[in-house]
Amino acid sequence: MEHRISRQMTDATDAYGRRLGAYLEQSSYSRLRGGPGVIDLAFGDPHEFPAPALVEVLQRHLSPQHTDWFAYTRDHPPAQESVAATLSRELALPFTADDVALTNGAFAGLTICLRSVCDPGDEVVYLDPAWFYYEPIIASVGAVPRPVALTPGSWRLDAELVAAAITPRTSAVIVNSPNNPTGAVYTDEEYAALAEVLREASARNGRPVYLLSDEAYRRIVFDGRSCPSPATHYPFTFLVHTYTKTLLLPGERVGYVAIPPTMPDPAVLRRALTVARLTTGWAFPNNSLLFALPELEQHALQVKPIEQRRDLLVDALREAGYEVQPSEGTFYLLARVPDADDWAHAAVLEERGLLVLPASVMGAPGYLRLSLTVTDDMLEETIGRLRSARPSTREHASVQR
Ligand SMILES: Cc1ncc(COP(=O)(O)O)c(C=O)c1O
Repeated sequence: MEHRISRQMTDATDAYGRRLGAYLEQSSYSRLRGGPGVIDLAFGDPHEFPAPALVEVLQRHLSPQHTDWFAYTRDHPPAQESVAATLSRELALPFTADDVALTNGAFAGLTICLRSVCDPGDEVVYLDPAWFYYEPIIASVGAVPRPVALTPGSWRLDAELVAAAITPRTSAVIVNSPNNPTGAVYTDEEYAALAEVLREASARNGRPVYLLSDEAYRRIVFDGRSCPSPATHYPFTFLVHTYTKTLLLPGERVGYVAIPPTMPDPAVLRRALTVARLTTGWAFPNNSLLFALPELEQHALQVKPIEQRRDLLVDALREAGYEVQPSEGTFYLLARVPDADDWAHAAVLEERGLLVLPASVMGAPGYLRLSLTVTDDMLEETIGRLRSARPSTREHASVQR
């Protein structure tokens, strides 16, 4: 008898197959990764041991300190209070502990928000280029993904394009800044224009168009920038954050969804977010991370070395014939290939042991995404290989996908 996969999971699987699945299944990444001399610039994974002080915090909170240490724990007021204090300081809004719903990362944060506000068949607008999991996550809750293509090269948040994509079925818009993969950090002016569009659309539709602000990289900003949030412009905002980037520990799952103090009738949403976490496979953080959170709030990756790697890689890529805009934040750089075939360029670099992501799978055809989480030694080797590997067009043409 044939399997019968649910409609939502069929749609999510198809979306996955068009995005990240296409790369993992059609490139040699899975075969080459971890091989001798292979440098993985495709994903933002750590390649060095974490700081000993951070490991000590994690270890200490894994040792039970009372008999309830490993009991079912949902929210944890000291953790929520520490997040609320940070957000209040950074965004100049009086967040309280109750405004903070702790999660096991931004995957869960985005999912519980969508599950809370989307009916089956509702539309969710997001901006392409985009993180490759938005489309499958939106489809998995029974909603319809509506990507909006931004202007290539500038990649700025264009409120008019968002306005044109909103329909009476739109229940949410997702924005992501600092943006993976473009590296753009949106400004307060851009958010003010977006807020205006969303206010008008909500009034027209007779229901709120919620804004999901994916701020996974809000602490990874370069050149002395700060990271504005649309939560200060638009009350119907969910601010989604995760510590996996700030601490560069993607396998240790902890994050939150915060609603701004300006959100009308917050009790209804708080309850929905709690039940969404319960019914999304217990999307709360593990206790050790929950208890460690007030201390984890005090730790952060050093951003300066990432910024320095960005500068070295920008120069090397330009020298090798790629067009590159220095990213304003995140772990990534986007490089435009000279002849528009990102898959072919990724395959040529793959032959030289450099794994990079063809950004077609993130809605940026003709671009490659490179990660800045490599070590200095890996970067030096990468630069050497880019120098010696200026690939010819003929070579590209011969590469089969
Ligand atoms: C833009 C963006 N949002 C969300 C996530 C998910 O974060 P986490 O793995 O902490 O849930 C990522 C991870 O790469 C990301 O790049």
